[in-house]
Amino acid sequence: MELTKYQSQMLNGDFGKGKAMAIKILVAIGESFGANRLVPIKRAHISLSAQGADRWFSEKMNKAGATFAVKPTVNPGYSLSYFNNKDILTEDDIDNMQRVHNAYKNMGAIMTYSCTPYLFANVPKYGDIVAFSETSVTIYANSVVGARTNRESSFSSMCSAITGFTPEYGFLLDENRYGDTLVRVEADLESDFDYSILGLICGEKVNGIPIFDGIKKNPSTEAHINLGTNLNVTGSHTIYHILGYTPEAKNLEMAMGNKKIKEEIVITNEDIKDFKDKIKPKEKIDFIMFGCPHYTFEQINNVLEMARSKKPKVPIWILTSQALIKLLEDMDLRKELEAYNISLVPNTCIDEERVWKDLKGKNGLSDSPKCSYYMSTFNVKINVLDAKECMEIASEGGDF
Ligand code: F3S
Repeated sequence: MELTKYQSQMLNGDFGKGKAMAIKILVAIGESFGANRLVPIKRAHISLSAQGADRWFSEKMNKAGATFAVKPTVNPGYSLSYFNNKDILTEDDIDNMQRVHNAYKNMGAIMTYSCTPYLFANVPKYGDIVAFSETSVTIYANSVVGARTNRESSFSSMCSAITGFTPEYGFLLDENRYGDTLVRVEADLESDFDYSILGLICGEKVNGIPIFDGIKKNPSTEAHINLGTNLNVTGSHTIYHILGYTPEAKNLEMAMGNKKIKEEIVITNEDIKDFKDKIKPKEKIDFIMFGCPHYTFEQINNVLEMARSKKPKVPIWILTSQALIKLLEDMDLRKELEAYNISLVPNTCIDEERVWKDLKGKNGLSDSPKCSYYMSTFNVKINVLDAKECMEIASEGGDF
């Protein structure tokens, strides 16, 4: 790889041990993927997880004197103030989260604890080169915004934030962003949840980069979040195109560039219905969990409106950022939500077994297949339905 004079000095340790370690890792990644150079990034987002490896690496870089050249936002961990209860958090849990927080904060991160950074605090523009980790974040930035990022790990995005550079390969290059699998959508996609189902079906079926053709109306922000997230629940995807709606797919020629369509897939209303029937829950549920990825203002307001018309009779948790909760407090909406037994959980990820251990063996319901997948790894069963149906069942006390 060819490095600039500034990058070579960084590698030689002229700007400290932390920056030297970070650029060494990026050079190794670049060389293994055949990159010729390191290019500057405009933004970074790190999938902080507060798990062992994350604590080890962030503390290592902090101790080595690293600071962020490009201040990154961070993914949720678990909120020490919300779970402020000895029955939930042990001394070790408190120490762990505090140490991770300190390491990132000391290096200069923007402590957003949100997995939808592209909605606030870290909003990229079309064409920006960024280093984003978190699968639902990278696919949104690439597909919906037209920014350019590889599917970074928390470590590689941290190294990019520390140095200000990323190796130029993969999804930073035009030729790797074109679609090669045509998905003819004959289904009506009536709700945002239908985009989750489309994502789940295509995540598995599509081996290349999907170009969705036939979607009749401009998908909402939440529909895009659902589609991208769920393409990565059943598969492994970094970008998708929707003809007429996403910025690199104004038409088929633009979306496929110099590639050939190697496969065509048709998705009908029946496919969507069959998939929903297959996952339909059958047992009584004990609680509802929304917000994986973190819920938007519109989604929270939607839940509140449904609660107003039919009072929920099981506890409901909604995961979102502290910043959004502050807004809801200022609007007196948090109090109202809590009156319906709906708790707003700040800055927390559903994949944090330490804080959800009381739910083990219980039967939950969510509109998020990703929530279901992660919570099943620590023995919490989450069934999946559209938020509207979840709220109907909640109003029946968990019965179907
Ligand atoms: Fe966000 Fe954690 Fe789900 S980072 S997308 S709440 S797994």
